[in-house]
Amino acid sequence: MDREAWIFGYGSLIWRPAFRFERMVPGYITGWARRFWQGSTDHRGVPGAPGRVVTLIPSPGALCWGMAYRVGEAELDEVLRALDHREKGGYARHDVPLHLADGAAVRAEITARSAIVYLATPDNPDYLGAAPLPEIAAQVLASHGPSGSNVEYVLRLADALMAMGAHDEHVTELAALVGHRAPRPVDPRTTVGPSCGGRAAGAADGPSTELGARSTSS
Ligand code: SIN
Repeated sequence: MDREAWIFGYGSLIWRPAFRFERMVPGYITGWARRFWQGSTDHRGVPGAPGRVVTLIPSPGALCWGMAYRVGEAELDEVLRALDHREKGGYARHDVPLHLADGAAVRAEITARSAIVYLATPDNPDYLGAAPLPEIAAQVLASHGPSGSNVEYVLRLADALMAMGAHDEHVTELAALVGHRAPRPVDPRTTVGPSCGGRAAGAADGPSTELGARSTSS
């Protein structure tokens, strides 16, 4: 049986996978929008003073870019155990159809697969839900946890999305509110379609065999 699996990261898993993978490729999922609606009491905040991190909200017609990682059969159990621990603050595994944008041939070669995604749904105790963006920004500015400042999480996500050519209005606006520099214009030659609430460009580096470092921070 082929137990190769794909894991789709849309938050800290984009810039800090910290698990062993065989290949990383930008990809997207449809019908979901990325939002800073999940409270974090174990990474970017503390109990009683949660930070805000991203989860995915069902959103018909939306398209969310992130990073897809292929994990080999030999590593899969260990990787999922480590990710279950890292994402224990409200997230659970779900299977989603994944569209893979394959490196340089991003527009020509998009293939669909199924991937594991970590999702925090409204029934978890740390879920915070919607709030006006200035309120979310104020909470981000005030929050700090074992993995570092909440501002760092926002800015690293904004930078990682920018680096892969994916634009997400919600992330860009929040990053600007917490002190991000002005976003670089997206190169129209690499644009492949809309992202969560905005336009996205497919991106990027070709397939990689890089192995992530080991760390459980998020
Ligand atoms: C993810 O990155 O895919 C899940 C949310 C997070 O850890 O930031």
